[in-house]
Amino acid sequence: MCGIFGVTGLPDPLTLVADGLRALEYRGYDSAGIVTVDPERGELWRCRAAERGRSIEKLETKMHDAPVHRGATLGHTRWATHGAPNEENAHPHVDCSGRIGLVHNGIIENHRELSAELRSAGHAFSSATDTETFAHLVESKVRAGACLREAVAACLGSVTGDFAVALVDAAEPHTIVAARRTSPLIFGRTPIGAIVSSDIAAALPTTRDLYQLGDDQVVELSPDGVVVIDASGAPAEARRLAVSWSVEAAQKSGYPDFMSKEIAEQPVALAQTLLGRFSSAGVPELEELALSRRELAGFNRVVLVACGSSYHACMSGRDAIERLAKVPAEVDIASEFRYREAVLGADTLVIAVSQSGETIDTLHALREARRRGAKAIAVSNVVDSVMAREADGVIYTHAGPEIGVASTKCHLAQHALLAVFALHLAHSRGELSGESLAAAAAELTALPGLVEAALTGSQDHAAVARRYVGVNDFYFLGRRSGFTVAAEGALKLKELAYVRAEAYPAGEMKHGPISLIEPGAVVVVIALRDGLWEKVMGNVEEMRARGATVVAVCEEGDQETEAAADAVLKVPGAGALVRPIVGVVPLQRFAYEIARARGNDVDRPRNLAKVVTVE
Ligand code: M6R
Repeated sequence: MCGIFGVTGLPDPLTLVADGLRALEYRGYDSAGIVTVDPERGELWRCRAAERGRSIEKLETKMHDAPVHRGATLGHTRWATHGAPNEENAHPHVDCSGRIGLVHNGIIENHRELSAELRSAGHAFSSATDTETFAHLVESKVRAGACLREAVAACLGSVTGDFAVALVDAAEPHTIVAARRTSPLIFGRTPIGAIVSSDIAAALPTTRDLYQLGDDQVVELSPDGVVVIDASGAPAEARRLAVSWSVEAAQKSGYPDFMSKEIAEQPVALAQTLLGRFSSAGVPELEELALSRRELAGFNRVVLVACGSSYHACMSGRDAIERLAKVPAEVDIASEFRYREAVLGADTLVIAVSQSGETIDTLHALREARRRGAKAIAVSNVVDSVMAREADGVIYTHAGPEIGVASTKCHLAQHALLAVFALHLAHSRGELSGESLAAAAAELTALPGLVEAALTGSQDHAAVARRYVGVNDFYFLGRRSGFTVAAEGALKLKELAYVRAEAYPAGEMKHGPISLIEPGAVVVVIALRDGLWEKVMGNVEEMRARGATVVAVCEEGDQETEAAADAVLKVPGAGALVRPIVGVVPLQRFAYEIARARGNDVDRPRNLAKVVTVE
């Protein structure tokens, strides 16, 4: 969602900030803005733009009017929550005097009460945002004699909600002050200055000396150094980040978009996910996880929580855990779980799965689980993410940065890692023989090669997809692991191509949805050779009998399925553990091609954000 990037002490700060904002575009935004302090005049200069997809370009034009002297500079990409996505509501916001500039990510939950108090004390507001409240609050402290750092620290106790803020003050021209609670914010040091950023990928081109600000900590950045304090003003320490990503990993590197790059990277990403996860005898090893085998063996129930594509990975994780480890497992959508009043106890293990490790619904579900007495671990791609820090243990997918809004390589990596976890749990409980473990390890080790084969096989999946560019109604059907593939395929198509795509367990169609099937409907059926293939083929017949066009995801050489469908998307045959992972690959390409042919931006689909940091 919103992105923050700021610099102080570095040459050409406006260009650096504009570049930082471009790197943060993937988080999703509808307006953008920049503020810089003019040290000569002791005033702020600000520009903002609200033109979907072109706001940063607009800012770059406006930047020609910026003052020659530029001190501390902040930029922001806004994904509207409170107030329309227009220029008045775009950040940075300023206080009444125009002396303090503020950018913000998250939500100030008590903004109504605070702004009523501030208005009655004479503050004039110029936007419909919750953000502006914070600027006026800080103003009131500064007016009372506090420096910017002290003022921000003093405000933390008054605001509720999850947020990250960064501020400049015309009276302290080379200083940036930033603070956070839950929402992401890191800062970095260079020999001559410092930066603040919403994420690592945007910060990497400037520095690798990066730090994670703790909850309710405040950092003051200036060319003279860095000072961290807590909300009471006492000295505090931020945590140094271990950064393994390269700058190139977060660039398109010749691909037309991040999504196609990330699809192509899947074999390598999976190899990284699986690296070092098995001993030579095939015994699963999850050393990262801070839970011993003994502790793991003590859990009687597993609950997986996540959103979107991560939720779909959890569906197959649940199946693998029940099948292999024989532990009752369930999966819940994080935003629902949080309010479910789930009965949890010390014998329940909750697994929060999230690429970003920041998704607010999943984070709150994780917190709720711990509050209710369960142990909670995180599966995260971003190292040191908020969830990674708050959980009782973490395992990382190590898939490299994922920039495209549509999750691809990280989704596959989550599937694979949850399969490893299921084996680890099974082994800890003594449920699998050495032979079965070795066979499962071999199956997973072969996965990168199978995904490579699915990507580069004889069939051109894109050509199949192009036949359905004009279709507006899709149904995706499958059973058990086929249904997890169907759910992910439908989500990809919805979010990228903006067409209706409903996923149903194939056996459920007869209980209602089949009445929607009429000539012209396109039904994508997952017809992989698991134990349910024959039943799925029965569903194919039902669809065709009602005039639907059937596109089947099937295994290479499966002539029976090919004969029964109007078109097929072929993948290599695979074992039960990895079949749903391989099955997703052609559907990523299917959605990608249809979206591109419809003229959509696949990296930044409308209304969506890569990281959903508001409820
Ligand atoms: O970072 P997370 O894995 O927690 O994100 C969860 C969802 O927002 C995410 O998977 C979303 O559904 C993707 N855009 C799907 O492609």
